[in-house]
Amino acid sequence: MKKPLIQKSEPNLDLAFKRSKTPTKIDYDSIIISDRLKSYANHKKAFIRTYGCQANVVDSENMQGILQEIGYELTEDYNEASLIILNTCAVRENAEDKVFGEVGSMKRLKDKNPSLIIALSGCMMQEPSIVKKIERVYPQVDLVFGTHNIASLPTLLDEVIFSKCRIVEVYSKEGEIKENLPIVRSSKIKAFVNIQYGCDKFCTYCIVPYTRGKQRSRLKEDIIKECQDLVNQGYKEITLLGQNVNSYGKDLYDDYTFASLLEDVAKTNIPRLRFTTSHPWDFSDEMFKVISSYKNICHYIHLPLQSGSNDILRRMGRRYTLEDYKKLVVRLRELMNDVAISTDIIVGFPNETEEDFLKTLECVEFCKYDSAFTFIYSPREGTPAAKIEDHVSMEVKHDRFNRLVETVNKYSQEKYKQFEGKIVEVLVEGYSKKDESILTGYTTDMKLVNFKGDESSLGKIIKVKIDKAHLYYLSGEQVS
Ligand code: 5AD
Ligand code: SF4
Repeated sequence: MKKPLIQKSEPNLDLAFKRSKTPTKIDYDSIIISDRLKSYANHKKAFIRTYGCQANVVDSENMQGILQEIGYELTEDYNEASLIILNTCAVRENAEDKVFGEVGSMKRLKDKNPSLIIALSGCMMQEPSIVKKIERVYPQVDLVFGTHNIASLPTLLDEVIFSKCRIVEVYSKEGEIKENLPIVRSSKIKAFVNIQYGCDKFCTYCIVPYTRGKQRSRLKEDIIKECQDLVNQGYKEITLLGQNVNSYGKDLYDDYTFASLLEDVAKTNIPRLRFTTSHPWDFSDEMFKVISSYKNICHYIHLPLQSGSNDILRRMGRRYTLEDYKKLVVRLRELMNDVAISTDIIVGFPNETEEDFLKTLECVEFCKYDSAFTFIYSPREGTPAAKIEDHVSMEVKHDRFNRLVETVNKYSQEKYKQFEGKIVEVLVEGYSKKDESILTGYTTDMKLVNFKGDESSLGKIIKVKIDKAHLYYLSGEQVS
């Protein structure tokens, strides 16, 4: 028999588009767990699979913390789980297809174990058409909750388990900032720290401003305390996270900027400090100064280009020109001759011409990126670009994509080659997936290094002599 469906709150794109002027409230104590849920969970196993970006990784870490506090044990094998959560990503259609494939295949587990609870969370759940499809086509899904509903997970699980109903709770308007959520981090060596949520840039292709709501900065005191705690626990690397870190604080302070925060976090003496993502539009002079004044701030900048054509940049609503972008890259290189720069590029934005595309290729040649994440444009429901009638065929888009990847690889290989014979500093994170006798870690400028070394170096920053550059990593041997 089909379980009844309770739609507590369904996603709504008009609401998600709105930006209220009221200041965001902060809740320091938002988790309520019923006794009956605690005794039900009592060492049952829970599994979370995370899709997409680092914001989702942190959300999953918080969900794991909440589940552990409820009494669940975390497992990496979903076959033995009593609760499965898929934390989804909506940025491109292929990410969504993977989730539907996974949910479909989980029907088999549910048939074997009817008390299994399957929950879906994350950005995809903020899309009305996706939630409708899940309600209609996937009865095996018991719970759907959105990016603003994570702190309600214990209440939602309690209701799903004891009312024996399917539940949908997705708020479209962002709520309070939830501080002090429990957390189980995926690494004991490096950590992600959110400094802001949401995005107000509304690039015309992007669904993030709808799925993650208004830009809201966390209080500087809360961020610095979290970073100081990580240092005290022995963490070696912190990455400050936000959709547009450079605009941190604009919604909270008159004269405390991202540069001020970066400086305060650098002063905690975390051995490595990174940040992502920087929008090229508001990269301030102060930021340049702070980055070059603190040795622990890594000389690695992710600077999304998206397109090298001014016409496409304008139609994407990116707020900078190709000339502004190139100037920024030149300044970064003047200031730090060892800086590594990576980027994001989209090909096939609606009605992109061959000429537009060639400008993107020229910009890749000018910037000589260390690496680039390259994407074929994917129309996203509710975004302005999705309404444009597009006359470019998929065949042309794939051809441009392949030419772009070829050019990107050429320069990234040149960068990697420069390391042959050199000694680099590596933060040792673990063992290579392919060969357990090989250690693995990253340089300050984000080059993956696989090397022969001493197991006791795990969690430490050590020196490695590089003997060979490969397409996506360096290999070598530990020297100290
Ligand atoms: N289609 C393709 N790529 C996209 N991105 C964001 N939205 C889309 C879309 N609709 C890419 C951008 C962004 C990265 C995180 O994902 O390049 O910087
Ligand atoms: Fe999307 Fe643009 Fe915001 Fe990045 S800056 S999350 S691409 S809207």
